[in-house]
Amino acid sequence: MKYYILFGPPGAGKGTQATAMVEKYNLHHISTGALLRKEIAAGTELGLQAKALIEKGCLVPDEVVEAMIENEFKTVTEVDGFLLDGFPRTTAQAEALEAAGVEIDKVLLLEVDDNKIVERLSSRRECSKCGIPYNIVSKRPAKEGICDSCGGELIIRKDDKPETVRHRLEVYHESTEILKGFYELTGRLRLVNGNQSIEGANEDILKAIGAQV
Ligand code: AP5
Ligand code: MG
Repeated sequence: MKYYILFGPPGAGKGTQATAMVEKYNLHHISTGALLRKEIAAGTELGLQAKALIEKGCLVPDEVVEAMIENEFKTVTEVDGFLLDGFPRTTAQAEALEAAGVEIDKVLLLEVDDNKIVERLSSRRECSKCGIPYNIVSKRPAKEGICDSCGGELIIRKDDKPETVRHRLEVYHESTEILKGFYELTGRLRLVNGNQSIEGANEDILKAIGAQV
C-alpha cells in the first residue's frame, strides 16, 4: 500500500491535483475538509460541531480528523494506496500517523504565494455533490454552474470569503507549515511549484513521485 500526502496552504491546488492522481495510480483520495463538509451537509452532530469552526477558518480538533482517517483506512481496501489531502495539519496529527505505523512514500508540498491564494479562492467554485474544484478564471466548467464530472451544482464555499481565507492562511503558517521540517528530515518531502499552471504543477508532481510524463 502506498501513502502520499498532498501538502500546502489553503487554495494551493491540493484538490485539483488529487483528481488527476487518483485515477492514474488507483489511489483513494481522502480530503478531511471534504469529509467534514459531508458531515455538515448531512446535519450530523459532528457536522454541527465542525461547521462553526470551518466557517471561521479554524481547525477542528485533532481527534475528530484522526478518527476519520482511521475509518477510511479500515473501510477502503480495493486500492493501491491512499492520497491524503489536508491531513496531517498539526504536529499531533503527523505523530498519530507515525504511531499508527503508516509509512509515507512522498509528501508533495505545493508552494503558492499568499496573495495568489486569496485571488484564486475568490474565484473558486466547488461541486456540491462530488467536491471537484473549478475556477471561473483558471478552470471553467463546460457548462456554467454545473460539474463536468457528475452534473452537480457548483457552489461558493462559505470559508472562501477573503477575510476567512486570510485567517486560514494565518492558521497554516502558525500550525501546519512546521510539518515541512518534520517531513524534510525524513527525506520524504518534495517541493512543487504551485504558482505555475495546473498542468505544469501536475507534471512536476508526477516527476516527483517517479512516474513517466
Ligand atoms: P480543506 O477543505 O482541506 O481546505 P484547505 O486546505 O484550506 O484547502 P482548499 O480545499 O481550500 O484548497 P486546495 O489546496 O484543495 O485548492 P483547490 O484545488 O481547491 O479544509 C477546510 C477546513 O476543514 C479547514 O479550514 C479546517 O477547518 C477543516 N479541516 C480540514 N482538514 C483538517 C485537519 N486535518 N485538521 C483540522 N481541521 C481540518 O484550488 C483552489 C482554486 O484554485 C480552485 O478554484 C482551482 O480551480 C484553482 N487552481 C488550482 N490550481 C491552480 C493553478 N495551478 N493555477 C490556477 N488556478 C488553480
Ligand atoms: Mg481542497
